[in-house]
Amino acid sequence: MSKPITKAVIPAAGLGTRMLPIARAVPKEMLPIVDRPALSYLVEEAADSGITDILIITGRGKGAMEDYFDYNPEYEAALLARGRDALVEEMRAACNRVNISFIRQKETRGLGHAISCARSFVGNEPFAILYGDDVIFSDTAPVTRQLMDAYHRYGLGVAGVKPVPEALVTRYCSLKAEPIPGSHRDWHVTDMIEKPRPEQIWTNLSILGRVVLPPEIFDILAVTEPGAGGEIQLTDAMKALAQTKGMTAVDFDGERFDLGSKLGLMMANVTRAVRHDEIGEEFKQFLQDFVKTL
Ligand code: UTP
Repeated sequence: MSKPITKAVIPAAGLGTRMLPIARAVPKEMLPIVDRPALSYLVEEAADSGITDILIITGRGKGAMEDYFDYNPEYEAALLARGRDALVEEMRAACNRVNISFIRQKETRGLGHAISCARSFVGNEPFAILYGDDVIFSDTAPVTRQLMDAYHRYGLGVAGVKPVPEALVTRYCSLKAEPIPGSHRDWHVTDMIEKPRPEQIWTNLSILGRVVLPPEIFDILAVTEPGAGGEIQLTDAMKALAQTKGMTAVDFDGERFDLGSKLGLMMANVTRAVRHDEIGEEFKQFLQDFVKTL
């Protein structure tokens, strides 16, 4: 087996225009799912997958992301005074599960550009990318782990995918892919296109929020021209990788929510709230009563 993958990058510098007006003051990656920010679910997923070092790509006005992963002496003193030592320990442990660093993307020039800011952090190793506004819950292995395993299986870059309706493919991307014989949910990918027109769609498999890539992606990103929306697209760089070396797509096991959209935010909250230890039962009762009024 190839060397273990220990590094992950979480791009979280985007403007989040779909989440205006709240995004003016609160980074969309910090919007809560019940009582925790979206970003913390990503960090937990990476840690559960065996990642030890995470780089979060941040931007102006997004300092709350750094504060969240720091100790907070004021809260700690207040909690200790109330005898809640265990909670203080728990909060400190959450900050220390993995090494987290931050770097600023000084201009929001697209996801591909954000990833290129991670070059010196990543060095010459394969690494995982968790898109900062895509939260994925899995009852089996964490999705990043599922992709890392596929990287070790085939030795190629891996994209986490799901079949999506045509209306969404045109907003995301389409992959040219063939099922890998003998595998349940792995595909060999030879091409891809960002935001295709309907006649350009190969398959309805779209990349949803997780990829594992070889370090060669940085050389490709360095020469990738702005694409859809005038931004440097990670998909365009992965397209070059797929066309030359090939890539793997894994139809992952997990439920994905787009926290960069209002609908995704609400769906993630309802899904988590009904399963929440503290409020789950009461919230379920509320929902059942509420549904009757619709
Ligand atoms: P999105 O395209 O969903 O983010 O990028 P966006 O540009 O903020 O979205 P809208 O359309 O304006 O609402 C996916 C991830 O990549 C990050 C985003 O923060 C998000 O987590 N990203 C995007 C960057 O880090 N830098 C960028 O220049 C663009």
